[in-house]
Amino acid sequence: MQLCVIEGDGVGHEVIPAAVRVLKALAPKLEVIPAEAGFETLQRTGTPLPEETCRIAAQIRAVLFGAAESPSYPVEGYFSPIIALRQQLSAYANIRPTRYLPVATARPGVDFIIVRENTEDLYTGAESVDESGDSGVAQKIITRAATERVARRAYKLALENERQRVTIVHKANILPKSDGLFRRVAYEVAERFPEIETDELLVDTAAYWMVKSPARFDVILTSNLYGDILSDMGAAWGGGLGLAPALNLGDDAAIAEPVHGTAPDIAGKNVANPTAAILSVALLLRHHWRRPDLGYRIERAITRAITDGFHTADVEPRGALSTDAFTDKIIELVTAHSASVKS
Ligand code: NAI
Ligand code: MG
Repeated sequence: MQLCVIEGDGVGHEVIPAAVRVLKALAPKLEVIPAEAGFETLQRTGTPLPEETCRIAAQIRAVLFGAAESPSYPVEGYFSPIIALRQQLSAYANIRPTRYLPVATARPGVDFIIVRENTEDLYTGAESVDESGDSGVAQKIITRAATERVARRAYKLALENERQRVTIVHKANILPKSDGLFRRVAYEVAERFPEIETDELLVDTAAYWMVKSPARFDVILTSNLYGDILSDMGAAWGGGLGLAPALNLGDDAAIAEPVHGTAPDIAGKNVANPTAAILSVALLLRHHWRRPDLGYRIERAITRAITDGFHTADVEPRGALSTDAFTDKIIELVTAHSASVKS
């Protein structure tokens, strides 16, 4: 097993080495190839995503990415390295599970997976403003090809994970040509998976139910913008950003990446919660490396540690464990389990 590791900026320097330590405890033969990307990389090298990083990622095809700082003012030469990398590796489905963990801010019974289209919709950069500067236009792009492949991925994932239902989320009543196409193609794919129940919700209604009754959701299949918003909303029911993992998945490549950003307010203090990064590695094991057994062991260790009150400062009730101390606990649980399995 080989993994290209990109820490990125901010807490990426803390949570990503923590996740790699856990993975190495489980898979000692893992070969780690470090690469760089992000804002610090831009300042040092003149680009946020060096050629060498693209070359390594394209060759290894399994990437663990921390987070990149995106300045909110224009910076010459800056572009989002993670969006560029998703495109280069054709990691077209963004998988964001939210599962109840026993922390005070989470919602019992929640266990859903959002599968978000990752390559088009309003995120292609096709945006312009007219000469007066008073009228801006962004193109929403929905294609049959991109919808079909992400829908197939969502239904396969539902089957493999013994899920019952896929909910297609769209706004086809207002956008019959673009979202209407997404809805139609998603239903065409659904017909090939009769074992899985299919229903649909308009995105505003889906937002209502996500707040009111999140446990009603199983797998959600949706386009890029709606998935972005609903998944951040959903992450709150899992206990917060420090616990929310994600995987960008293509047919032959994957980028594991916590949902959170660089957390500049806590970076460099050894207090960031590494759970989101560690659970992202579990997703990589499950869905890309096809080792659900190892993914499950990580997930079980996290649940166990949090249930037993091993909390970092972001988890309610607020804990005092450092990034390193929490990671040590997870490694202890993961390896204790493997010892008991062998004996
Ligand atoms: P953020 O996710 O970095 O932080 C939001 C809040 O959550 C902060 O209070 C932070 O301390 C807390 N938090 C985040 N991760 C945590 C962790 N692992 N443990 C404990 N607490 C944690 O979002 P924010 O502040 O809006 O963005 C900061 C920077 O990150 C910006 O430059 C933004 O562009 C970038 N960003 C990058 C992302 C990526 O590369 N995928 C995603 C989101 C933001
Ligand atoms: Mg987002």
